Amino acid sequence: MITFTVENKVFHLQAKNSSYLIEIAPTGHLIHLYWGKKLPQTADYRRLLSAELRKKHLQSETANNFKLDNIPQEYPAYGNSDFRQPAFEVRLADGSSLSNLKYQSHKIASGKDKLTGLPALYVEDKKAATSLKIKLYDQKAELEVELSYTVFKEFDVIARSAVLTNKGQQKIVLERAFSAAVDFIDANYELITSAGDWSRENHLVRRSLQPGLQAVESTRGASSAQHNPFLVLARPEATEEQGEVYGFNLVYSGNFFAGVQVNSFEQARVLMGINQFDFSWQLKASESFQTPELVMTYSGKGLSKLSQTYHKLYRKHLMRGKYKEQVRPILLNNWEATYFDFDEARILEIAKAGSELGVELFVLDDGWFGSRNDDTTSLGDWFVDREKLPAGLASLAEKVNNLGLKFGLWFEPEMVSPESQLYQKHPDWCIHIPGRNRTLARSQLILDLSRPEVRAKIMEMLTTILESVKISYIKWDMNRNMTEIGSAKLDSDQQRELPHRYLLGLYEMLEELQQSFPEILFESCASGGGRFDPAMLYYMPQSWTSDNTDAGSRLKIQTGTSLFYPLVAMGAHVSAVPNHQVGRSTSLITRGDTAYFGNFGYELDLRKLTQTEKELVKKQISFYKQERTLIQTGDFYRLLSPFADQLDTAWLVVNENKTAAVAAFYKVLAEANQPGRYLKLAGLDPQKYYKVNLINQLKTEVKLYPETAVYSGVELMSVGIVLPEKIVNLLPDGSESRGDFQSLVWKITAVTANT
Ligand code: DGJ
Repeated sequence: MITFTVENKVFHLQAKNSSYLIEIAPTGHLIHLYWGKKLPQTADYRRLLSAELRKKHLQSETANNFKLDNIPQEYPAYGNSDFRQPAFEVRLADGSSLSNLKYQSHKIASGKDKLTGLPALYVEDKKAATSLKIKLYDQKAELEVELSYTVFKEFDVIARSAVLTNKGQQKIVLERAFSAAVDFIDANYELITSAGDWSRENHLVRRSLQPGLQAVESTRGASSAQHNPFLVLARPEATEEQGEVYGFNLVYSGNFFAGVQVNSFEQARVLMGINQFDFSWQLKASESFQTPELVMTYSGKGLSKLSQTYHKLYRKHLMRGKYKEQVRPILLNNWEATYFDFDEARILEIAKAGSELGVELFVLDDGWFGSRNDDTTSLGDWFVDREKLPAGLASLAEKVNNLGLKFGLWFEPEMVSPESQLYQKHPDWCIHIPGRNRTLARSQLILDLSRPEVRAKIMEMLTTILESVKISYIKWDMNRNMTEIGSAKLDSDQQRELPHRYLLGLYEMLEELQQSFPEILFESCASGGGRFDPAMLYYMPQSWTSDNTDAGSRLKIQTGTSLFYPLVAMGAHVSAVPNHQVGRSTSLITRGDTAYFGNFGYELDLRKLTQTEKELVKKQISFYKQERTLIQTGDFYRLLSPFADQLDTAWLVVNENKTAAVAAFYKVLAEANQPGRYLKLAGLDPQKYYKVNLINQLKTEVKLYPETAVYSGVELMSVGIVLPEKIVNLLPDGSESRGDFQSLVWKITAVTANT
């Protein structure tokens, strides 16, 4: 619900349990009054900005000492007494950079509009959300800025974006156009961001805010594995279960900036949007620029609640298509099984082994097209390699279907190998700067998707395959970042528009594919989690979380990714040992137990498993099939964090009505002679009683209680499950798995009476 009180000129945005307050100041500037726990409608909330500040600095722009520098604002400008980082920056025809936005008009309506050319949250039922649009205007610059706010009835979420329009005749250049700025009245927060790289995505970092600017960003043309486009401000005492936390997640897949500036008055300003680094945008007369959407969440109940809000919101109001509400198929991908070395017979044998064990979808990864026997050639030549697959793709798909499996295919459509027919024909179709070296990464270059003819050619090749082969799933990969950023088609003064124009082109292609092939399940990938962001989830409802499939590494990667993204979005596969990325051997039990907490699959040559291992795989698959609705749609809790000193990790998913849960504990480093510990659960109903059953674990040493025992929800949440001193897993062949990286999984089921 959103209200506007005419007398005091205050907007009150009410989300489920939170309020956000905006005031139109007497000077016309848009003031931020509050964001936090829900407040009643009644009061005059102008009192939330100190009367002294108002009087001293905000009476009139022409009065002595008018100053916006310590006034919390909604979309701060540059050049008129606020010395902090602005939300946007312009270069006007007279060479000046100053701007001064004043309230012009507003509109409140139910529902939520689409963003032109960009992915965003949506509602199917208008009653699910209310939107406020406030128009601000700079008369001198003839610049209009329309700020959009949407509140969701069932969520503590506010989605923000802005549209900047040139209302005059003179060209305006945008040097910065962030999606939003949010001013906090104090800076007593800690900042949580992600850090990492290929194969170690989303490691979480938590630090106190310090005076000055602290930020993460991407300048790589993709949202990146180095920092995900999110940040959290958490009160120092906030934990997973309690305390105030604020989340920010940008619905964008390119260069971003996510920063917090603490000024000399100890106020914190959060700024997020397209990175101004290597960005500018020309607005000719009547032209507009739409910023990406920023999804902001408030939780008064710690980080678990924040994550659960994002998870549900993204499942309901971001993901689309057939698979939005459907459980996802268990897939088998041949990449780590064969790499480029396969033919039809080998592929079919691997697929057959998967089918016999209960897999539902077979995915043929890289190497099926052009003449690609390694990663040096053929990107751009999207036609089947008849040497490897003489009978063609349609025939292969049919044979895979005959094994009882759906068929999926890998593409990397945004790229071109210099050694390809496409590149030979169109050497200027890649992103490049004439006269400069074209830096190769994984022997490839990026196609210039800002050009319609490039997009059209790629779409034509993809469509030919999709119309002639029965494909149920596409893995859309992207394996390098932008260098020598230039387009042969853009004017010299528009070259800095290329990274964003590239994304607009990519989104247009993805939208067209979604509309033309609604039956296909898309999974995005960028050398793993190099572009795992909400924008991609809008087009592709799952994403390959990391190329690192080691169960030990995945504890950190999946924990970090879960801060904002739902488990159903996170591809998680059991792979071979020793692990191909880190060389570590973990038991098949631990590999399964880790991959359960995601979108489950396999990525190894299942033929090579022993009979007893195959039996365990069968068990894993049937367990996941039985529990996947719960895992993919339940409330997720990080009970123990791999980022803490102890390293031990524990995860839990509870269904909506709190009648069933799956919990897991991962002992990272084995210790001798450890005291018994408890694993406290969360999210259960304290009034209910539950059975607690170990899954897949056969060793008596860990059965510290009778299988038939019944526990109250309150006991499980306040005392917990007693953990064994050491975990010894009995493998199906009778051998023991002990030492580091052992795990336990429990199924927790509500029972009707206390027995
Ligand atoms: C990178 C991906 O992350 C891998 O899963 C695999 O698809 C390779 N590309 C194929 O080249």
